[in-house]
Amino acid sequence: MQNGTQRRFAGKTAVVTGAGTGLGRAMALAFAREGADVCVVGRRQEKLDETVALVEKEGGKAFALSADVRDAARVQAVMAEVVTRTGRIDVLVNNAAGNFVCPSEELSPNGFKSVVDIVLLGTFYCTRYAFDALKANKGSILNIIAAYAWSGEPGAIHSASAKAGVLAMTRTLAAEWGRFGIRANCISPGPFHSEGTDKNLWLSPDVDAHVASTVPLGRLGEPSDIARAALWLSSEEASWVSGATLAVDGAQWLHGGTLNFREMYDKVRASMSGST
Ligand code: COA
Repeated sequence: MQNGTQRRFAGKTAVVTGAGTGLGRAMALAFAREGADVCVVGRRQEKLDETVALVEKEGGKAFALSADVRDAARVQAVMAEVVTRTGRIDVLVNNAAGNFVCPSEELSPNGFKSVVDIVLLGTFYCTRYAFDALKANKGSILNIIAAYAWSGEPGAIHSASAKAGVLAMTRTLAAEWGRFGIRANCISPGPFHSEGTDKNLWLSPDVDAHVASTVPLGRLGEPSDIARAALWLSSEEASWVSGATLAVDGAQWLHGGTLNFREMYDKVRASMSGST
């Protein structure tokens, strides 16, 4: 490959969920640049095909398997097919997520359930059905959470609850599957732009100025900032790192506080209704 200076994943297979867009796509490209054969998983075949085309354009290897991570039987079939096609799974990145901003007192039970099903149950299904292959290769699980897993997040009770569950799941697996040589870690990304975050989270037009002012390093992140950390945490260089959460956020969680989606939501709603 032209772009990678290292090939830490040559001969390895990485599965990245939610890889049709945004951060998942950036991570799929990053793993492929370092030699991995990448299985990109997501709901929309055309988006997955775009990711595969981007990888192949750079000379990398990838293939797409469509799945809704809420469908346990389909997830099981996908993991089996990855092993049939490549013989292994070395890295599983549970990145697929659902999120939107909604005041807790207005959120319907099904709205809460949809996000928990994707984020919490979906992460478990993927992890559960990748287990045999991860065990065989002393593999690595990387779960994408958010700092609001521990701070809470006004306006995203569904996502905060689910991410807190994923954090507990990660720590549980680090302890329980360490005996098999499997590592489990989290990355907690700070605020960044992507197709998903722009559509679902950053509701206000002045979001950049507002959010950047909460980040000590003074800017929103890029998917590539997070992808570089994902490579390291999933590589042999981090072979004694397990049960950890790496904040990749310009120190936002320490000194910027909660993102407070609710505040932005209320402001946008007030401006739309003409009230102050
Ligand atoms: N505000 C309040 N409720 C919402 C909502 C919003 N913006 N968007 C969806 N919901 C509710 C729906 O009303 C529905 O509840 P109901 O049956 O009580 O009416 C429930 O959530 C499920 O919505 P639906 O669109 O049928 O779910 P889905 O399974 O097709 O989609 C979502 C799941 C809602 C998470 C959707 O946003 C999604 O697919 N997101 C994937 C991408 C994404 O969010 N990425 C994260 C980027 S930060």
